[in-house]
Amino acid sequence: MRTQETDSTRPPAAAAAAGVETDPFPILGFDHLELYVGNARQSAAWYRHAFGFECTAVRGLETGERDRASWLVEQGNIRLLLTSGLHSSHAAARSVSRHGDSVAVIALTVPDVDEAFDASVSRGALTAAVPANAVDERGYLRHASIHLYGDTLLQFIDRRDYGGVFGPGFQAAPAIPGAAAGRNCGLVAIDHVVANVELGRMNEWVAFFSRVLGFSQLVHFDDDAISTEYSALMSKVMQDGTGTIKFPINEPAEGRKKSQIEEFLEFHEGPGVQHVACRTNDILGTVTRLRENGVEFLHVPISYYEDLEQRVGRIDEPIDRLAELGILADRDEDGYLLQIFTKPIEDRPTLFYEIIERHGATGFGAGNFKSLFVALEREQAARGNL
Ligand code: FE2
Repeated sequence: MRTQETDSTRPPAAAAAAGVETDPFPILGFDHLELYVGNARQSAAWYRHAFGFECTAVRGLETGERDRASWLVEQGNIRLLLTSGLHSSHAAARSVSRHGDSVAVIALTVPDVDEAFDASVSRGALTAAVPANAVDERGYLRHASIHLYGDTLLQFIDRRDYGGVFGPGFQAAPAIPGAAAGRNCGLVAIDHVVANVELGRMNEWVAFFSRVLGFSQLVHFDDDAISTEYSALMSKVMQDGTGTIKFPINEPAEGRKKSQIEEFLEFHEGPGVQHVACRTNDILGTVTRLRENGVEFLHVPISYYEDLEQRVGRIDEPIDRLAELGILADRDEDGYLLQIFTKPIEDRPTLFYEIIERHGATGFGAGNFKSLFVALEREQAARGNL
């Protein structure tokens, strides 16, 4: 993005929607996630074919970029920006060399970028990029970034004054001759973004979200709740003032063997985003399509479904359909949820996706942790890492 420093005297966002005034750190939603990948063009094709995203915008040599190429893919309100370096010295290329394909930037829409940046930095966040405008003839987009866990950045964006495609420097993605359009799979929004951090660091990041970003702790799971025969982990979930942005943070706990979190930290070479959960309103339809497209999910033993109804009570979806598709169910005091986890989407056992449908439940499927981790460990053992 071409950037240009401007003064920061713009008026505070009139948008400050009702209720936002009292929020210590107003956030309007996820704007996008930027992934650094080895080959953005091929990744975009895969996200289109496998997950039903639509390629909507592109930047690269043809649009005047000299050092990177990006493809934007969208589905529902989910925007993934896939970026590759065009030279080995570009940050995206260096990141891929170390981490593999991974989430590099979590971008949040905020009512006032300067306020968000100033507030977070004054409370201890490290600056990655000071507030600036990206400008072209379609307007300007204000943005700033701070450092989060590992090499991940948290970006604040305000795009109210931009009328073009995604951002300055981007053009509408060209139609690819002969390419079948991806079939929309019904993904509607990002539900939560989960990080794995090193042993002993979870509480530091919990404190960061609380002190710097005004988040509160929604729930925590200790290693008794999340342990298998071999390994254990601890997890805390931080959420913003409105409860719409949720960041669970995991750390490994002592276990008999290497935990899945340690495996992630080894192959990702440090902390970072472990999984992104995408919400659907029709998980049966979504997972059916994803499976038809070749997306691979963690295997759930059939025994999981034998006593499911006793555990979660009555749910609208037929249990035999859930079993057929490998979808998990869980209930909390507010309702129930359905969820399923893909296998890692690359050769390194790192980033994966979750598909989730909520029927009132606000939790994360704690009742499934154990069966999920047993399934994860089966795959980990197959990789020779357990
Ligand atoms: Fe999750």
